[in-house]
Amino acid sequence: MTGLAPAAAAPLSTSWMELAEAARACTACPDLVTSRTQVVPGAIPEASDVLVIGEAPGAQEDLAGKPFVGRSGQLLDRLLAEAGLPRDLVAVTNVCKCRPPGNRTPSRPEVTACRPWLHRQIELLDPLLILALGGTAARWFFGPSARIVTLRTTAQTHQGRPVLVSYHPSAAIRFGPSGAPLAALRNDLAAAARLRDELRSGRAGAGVGDRP
Ligand code: URA
Repeated sequence: MTGLAPAAAAPLSTSWMELAEAARACTACPDLVTSRTQVVPGAIPEASDVLVIGEAPGAQEDLAGKPFVGRSGQLLDRLLAEAGLPRDLVAVTNVCKCRPPGNRTPSRPEVTACRPWLHRQIELLDPLLILALGGTAARWFFGPSARIVTLRTTAQTHQGRPVLVSYHPSAAIRFGPSGAPLAALRNDLAAAARLRDELRSGRAGAGVGDRP
């Protein structure tokens, strides 16, 4: 399967490991093949039932081969732990599996080319809920006009699964400790932890995911 285009290889993968191996050989996006150190398929701890999705690897992730290990990742870890969602319950990946040059936003063709990997990752993990962090992840699920400010306050689903949309940790860093994105992200991760508990105990019903 190695070397096949994502649209051909992803559906054939029967585990995250297999998918990661196929994704590591991906050459779909010429700019990214040139600029990346390596593909960063994602991290999936054994016990995970929540999937966090960011935009694309940054410089540190590109070097480490792991998602969210730089400044954004450190903040994410802290906020997840604070919310009662330690990283070993949480699988983490990105819309785009390669670092765009200079950390630019992935282009539409790159997001489209990469789409089958994430699509299949969601199918294989079958998470209880998904957290989409930032505009790129929000648009992946809800289209080009997706707006975090609207989506984060309403219950969203993707193929029957709750999707909580929130700010990217990099926005929380950019706006600082008293900025709105940090408070919103903290609130939304706490809501995700509560929703996970509800879903695990089978208590979630209509309106689940509604947040203040
Ligand atoms: N930002 C992202 O969106 N993903 C990472 O893995 C790191 C930074």
